[in-house]
Amino acid sequence: MRIGLGAALLMAGLVAAAATATAQQAPIMIKGEPYVYDKDNAQDVMRICAGCHGELGNGGGGGAYPRLGGLNADYLAEQMRKFKSRERENIPMIPFAVDRELSERDVLDVTRFLSEVKLETKPPANMPADGYARLQIMKKVLQIPREPGDVEAGKTFYAADCGPCHGNKGQGRLKKPAIAPQHISYLKVQVDSFLSGKRKHDDLEVMKAKTPEEWKNLWAFLSSLQD
Ligand code: HEC
Ligand code: HEC
Repeated sequence: MRIGLGAALLMAGLVAAAATATAQQAPIMIKGEPYVYDKDNAQDVMRICAGCHGELGNGGGGGAYPRLGGLNADYLAEQMRKFKSRERENIPMIPFAVDRELSERDVLDVTRFLSEVKLETKPPANMPADGYARLQIMKKVLQIPREPGDVEAGKTFYAADCGPCHGNKGQGRLKKPAIAPQHISYLKVQVDSFLSGKRKHDDLEVMKAKTPEEWKNLWAFLSSLQD
């Protein structure tokens, strides 16, 4: 059979499209079973996490507990696996980050649920008078106190050395996590872990070369990114 060039190109296109569709549809397999997202299970698992991270993952405890809501699902899942293998140390989470409490299915469910949460950085202008209704609203609010320092200088530092990976507004990209809005005291602890080698980070030399004044300005800038 002779086919024209146009038809051949069209067919090649269809084959390519079919290949992409199969790649996207290929299910994640866990112990021989295809994984299917189970939102009810995600919400069940969240009951464990809520005590520290908040019901919708807005974090808190003066920044001891990071914001998880709205972060990339693959990043979150990878960190959970690092806690489970103890590659990343997290003492408060040790009782939960074990297979018995948290299977790979639980990890995929809860991280997908968290990644779909949309948090606000300010309470709405008209808060209801009712205490319970206010509480429901505040679960979605991520409040980051402003840090003192030179925001413009921090912006220059950030744009040159951090923005290329973490996004110009700290919004993150895939497994390079969002670092704004994020609790600043949590971020400071992470930078200390990178500098001391407890946790791994690319381009460590750049971080090591920064002065305390420069860090202060960076925190001032990051805490200013809250819309
Ligand atoms: C007892 C308190 C506690 C509980 C319960 C808890 N966490 Fe955490 N979690 C922490 C602390 C503290 C950190 C920050 C550790 C550090 O400083 O590196 C953390 C960090 C994380 C991080 C890393 C975030 C990042 O940006 O890298 C993820 C992901 C996480 N927790 C997920 C969960 C999930 C999911 C649950 C529920 C299954 C959970 N945590 C339950 C205390 C807790
Ligand atoms: C080459 C890309 C790259 C650059 C440049 C970069 N980062 Fe990162 N950063 C990452 C990746 C990837 C991770 C996640 C590491 C992991 O998987 O544990 C990360 C994680 C972090 C975290 C931990 C976030 C969390 O939720 O736990 C902080 C804080 C951070 N980076 C700060 C910075 C700062 C400040 C700069 C600028 C000096 C910077 N990064 C530059 C790629 C980068």
